[in-house]
Amino acid sequence: MIDSRVSGPEPPDAGPNARSQRKGANLGHMGIEGGSLRIEGPLSLRGEVWLPGDKSISHRALLFASVADGVSSISNLSSGDDVLATRNFLSVVGVDSSVEDDGATRIAGNGFAGFLQPTTAIDCGNSGTTMRIGAGLLAGRPHFAVLNGDSSLRKRPMSRVIRPLSAMGAEVTGTDGNRFPPLVIRGGSLKGIEYEVEVASAQVKGALILAGLQASGETTLRLPAITRDHSERMLLALGCDLDSHENEVRVRPSQPCAFDMRVPGDISSAAFLMAAAAVCPGSHIALRSLSLNPSRLAIVDALKEMGVEVETAVEGSVVGEPFGDIEVSHSPKLSAIDVSGSAAALLIDEIPVLACLAAHVPERSSFRDLTELRGKESDRIAVLCEELQRVGVEVKEFEDGFELMGGGMLAGEIGSHGDHRIAMAFASALAGCQGLSIVTGFEAAAVSYPEFARDLALLAGVDPVEVGQVR
Ligand code: S3P
Repeated sequence: MIDSRVSGPEPPDAGPNARSQRKGANLGHMGIEGGSLRIEGPLSLRGEVWLPGDKSISHRALLFASVADGVSSISNLSSGDDVLATRNFLSVVGVDSSVEDDGATRIAGNGFAGFLQPTTAIDCGNSGTTMRIGAGLLAGRPHFAVLNGDSSLRKRPMSRVIRPLSAMGAEVTGTDGNRFPPLVIRGGSLKGIEYEVEVASAQVKGALILAGLQASGETTLRLPAITRDHSERMLLALGCDLDSHENEVRVRPSQPCAFDMRVPGDISSAAFLMAAAAVCPGSHIALRSLSLNPSRLAIVDALKEMGVEVETAVEGSVVGEPFGDIEVSHSPKLSAIDVSGSAAALLIDEIPVLACLAAHVPERSSFRDLTELRGKESDRIAVLCEELQRVGVEVKEFEDGFELMGGGMLAGEIGSHGDHRIAMAFASALAGCQGLSIVTGFEAAAVSYPEFARDLALLAGVDPVEVGQVR
């Protein structure tokens, strides 16, 4: 049993955001050494966690506050490197932000017109969201801007934003036939367009919505599938003139108002702890005050379909974003899953963890219609297939996905390929295996969830000071 929560949606004190309820000796052990995470499994997880803010909502909260007219205050922002890249974006375009004594970030927006001419290239690091949504904002500004990123981001497809932003009237170019970063943007007057977005991407949708708010006339977007709807929900709650239904959005010129927000916890980061609890004997964990936006709940449905014992309870909403608690217990009878079609876009960030969980199931699981995974922080189809085989899982790779033949995962050593979700997905599933496992390149976790090892340790009853930090 989990104790009832000690205070409101905030963590109960200023200490770590996880509290263990383990009494007595823990089964397993874990620690970080030279950038590798070592886990002596199986762990057993008990306790409650207040996760850092959702990455998608954090990016948007910062960017929307930067063009609001007035001062916004945002707390529980994601502490990951991706969101730091968006903070950096704001400082290069001259938006004033500061971190207050209580940890909240205060942003002084001056409307869209408040952006200054950048005097240096904007480094988006590993963050596709910063680059793509940032490009949508800059397309409407009368400035010259260069958006660059790390070696992984420079391989990610950008024609998906270059084409429509150019059709709206901005001059946007990339390398290699306008396909890759760096992006060079000469923004200016935009006109609304009617546009069939070529991929089911919430980043592209977010970019075009921000361009549409600055354009003359109406912008209509149709996507090939339903994707996460944070931009629509938040901007509507902030008074912008837009409406959306399923995979269609209509945007008219308008500007968000300033706001105060505590960003709900990241459900995609929580998915790693949920999977770990499902495979670790004796586990029962509560994840507090998470984002429960319906367009992010496909992971909960998928876990239920696999036989994971998971319960959700919505508590309220902030800036149009619902939040609440999720509890998960050890689930010894897991079953296989088939992901394809429209579910693929809604589970895009959770495929690595679902695949690693499915590796514990003694039946065949299949993951298809996922070509988009090849253009993420790594080629996640190739990397999952390679690393799953290293821990004894038989796989069959296709251009658009893969199948797992079933039969269980064995403790062993895998590499992150510099991809945060690969690092944490394997760490979660290996936590349920008997013996020593090692995830090399574990520092990649800092991109979205630097506190992952600490939170897992606290839930496992391992002293987090002994475990160490990823950065
Ligand atoms: C995101 C959308 C997704 C997701 C990424 C964050 C967002 O990308 O993979 O981690 O915040 O809009 P795509 O929409 O490009 O698939």
